[in-house]
Amino acid sequence: MNRVYLEHREVPAVSPATARLIERSHDLETPFLLVDRTRLRDNPRRLRAAFPSAGVYYAVKANPHPEILRILADEGCGFEISSDGELDLARAADPRAPLVSSNPVKAPAFIRRACRGGVEAFAVDSPHELSKIADEAPGAAVYVRLLVDNSGSEWPLARKYGVETDEAIDLLVRAADLGLQPLGTTFHVGSQCRMSASWDAALARSAEVWNGAGRRGINLTFLSIGGGFPVRHTREIPPLDEIAEVVHQSIADRFPPVVRVTLEPGRALVGDAALLGASVIGKARRSGEEWVYLDVGVFNGLMETIAGFSYEVSTLATGPRSSVVLAGPSCDSVDVIAESAALPELSVGDRVYFLNAGAYTLAYASHFNGWPPPSVHFVD
Ligand SMILES: Cc1ncc(COP(=O)(O)O)c(C=O)c1O
Repeated sequence: MNRVYLEHREVPAVSPATARLIERSHDLETPFLLVDRTRLRDNPRRLRAAFPSAGVYYAVKANPHPEILRILADEGCGFEISSDGELDLARAADPRAPLVSSNPVKAPAFIRRACRGGVEAFAVDSPHELSKIADEAPGAAVYVRLLVDNSGSEWPLARKYGVETDEAIDLLVRAADLGLQPLGTTFHVGSQCRMSASWDAALARSAEVWNGAGRRGINLTFLSIGGGFPVRHTREIPPLDEIAEVVHQSIADRFPPVVRVTLEPGRALVGDAALLGASVIGKARRSGEEWVYLDVGVFNGLMETIAGFSYEVSTLATGPRSSVVLAGPSCDSVDVIAESAALPELSVGDRVYFLNAGAYTLAYASHFNGWPPPSVHFVD
């Protein structure tokens, strides 16, 4: 098997599990997403081993396929949900799974339904959201989303959400005044975070809020450390155990002993549990560059590549590699997967495989221009 690397970065050899997925995919029509049930079951176990006393709430947005939710619920995961659609999916997977809602801005009708549907607590980051929750779900438990440094992340989530320390404390006090239960804090270090120190910095910010709230008579108990745990692609990532060690030390140094810690992983639970397969549909030479067009692109599965996210790619073709622009099938010129992929000579009909593509692929995929999202298949 010939491995190729986007951005010419060297990465370790394809794992036996990936080779097995490629072999098992030969009869599937492209584009497809082939999910490895064994790996999917293993991921929550690995997280639990690294964070033994933490509650794990799968961020449904990463991949909301019903079978994936069922497997993760079966492994004891709760769900982090943000919408009526995600509430329905989570409840269909497991009517009793614990639920939280960490998107700080939610639709009023969703808040009402989610409260009846058993959501334990809601994230907030504005007085406006607090008032909305007080109206729609009187007495509900809330936690504040903090603004934290996302610079270690490949898919940053700062700016749109989160508040600074003083504002967070004010919100917790205001929550109590509105008859809500101010429970704790949450943050997100950014998705695919490659710096374990980011969790330490975010926990330091969380501790400032906990201490400040305590001085104003609000004693917090719920500490969400969000998602962001990375999956291997083309760059180095810290091992999960290294992140866990940083987190455990930071919590031991800064927080009271009885604190309920929760995680909201999306990518780390599903990312490396699936292979995305595509076919070459065309080739062209334009202004001195070779272009290769696939039946999957930005709009039907590889959305994250528009922000420079790079996947490891394999192909069964052999021969010397040269740099090509790898593009999706739609007429839109945004639909470029990689500006420079080192690939062997490919022919129309050849397959290419995007490794560890289980997260934020299917979930974003549309039917734009008539190109279907990947069909989903499972192997044990
Ligand atoms: C509130 C919240 N929690 C958790 C996640 C999951 O993040 P990740 O997939 O990086 O683990 C996200 C991702 O956008 C999020 O917005």
